Amino acid sequence: MASSTKTLLPLSLLFTLLALSQATYPNFILTLVNNCPYTIWPAIQPNAGHPVLERGGFTLHSLTHRSFPAPTAHWSGRVWARTGCTYEHGKFYCATGDCGGRIECDGLGGAPPATLAQFVLHHGHADFSTYSVSLVDGFNIPLTVTPHEGKGVCPVVGCKENLSESCPAVLQFKSHGGHGSVVGCKSACEAFKTDEFCCRNHYNSPQTCKPSSYSQFFKHACPATITYAHDSPSLMHECSSPRELKVIFCH
Ligand SMILES: *[C@@H]1O[C@H](CO)[C@@H](O)[C@H](O)[C@H]1NC(C)=O
Repeated sequence: MASSTKTLLPLSLLFTLLALSQATYPNFILTLVNNCPYTIWPAIQPNAGHPVLERGGFTLHSLTHRSFPAPTAHWSGRVWARTGCTYEHGKFYCATGDCGGRIECDGLGGAPPATLAQFVLHHGHADFSTYSVSLVDGFNIPLTVTPHEGKGVCPVVGCKENLSESCPAVLQFKSHGGHGSVVGCKSACEAFKTDEFCCRNHYNSPQTCKPSSYSQFFKHACPATITYAHDSPSLMHECSSPRELKVIFCH
């Protein structure tokens, strides 16, 4: 009797301490860093059935960051940044990445073009976290995903180039309904809306969905990104249990 009490007490104490330490220092966090010389409004959209994180969006001033606990169970979704947001006529509106005119996107997606960081957290037999940066919906801001303390193959992926500067004229996305300055670079799908560029219908398979000269412009500038629907990420990774995934805007 006495000996069983002795083993039980320390065990329950240990679990309490573990729970406390995880509440204070979660063992897996997501961090969004604004390294841009201007304010951005990051947005986070879960895939259907997964919880909304940080109400789906917030303001992030230049040279600041925000960290929050990563989901503890399987989760997938995407992160992007909204730029050039203002209150006009009493309404919040962003030049790129806008999600229905609200600061907190609350699960809504964003308007293209927008550089997307995509995540699948906690999957597979070794608690993998998969991440990629996609230019399939165009480009609005340079961004990278940097994992910390993962086991296995955990490369930095993304795009450090400012493709708004080098964007071909036919893909340029301009503010103020096309009359303002270049604030993004559209994908060929968004610019031309054909089944071929959008990999729809007949073109919706790895055999028929091919790179174009436009997707190759993105790929050459930013090799560690996905540039059309069936593109393969050029950096393979298999990253187990990272303690932090950092999205750095304007890395
Ligand atoms: C990228 O280029 C656009 C267009 O020239 C410019 O407005 C924007 O400030 C640049 N962004 C960065 C981070 O340099």
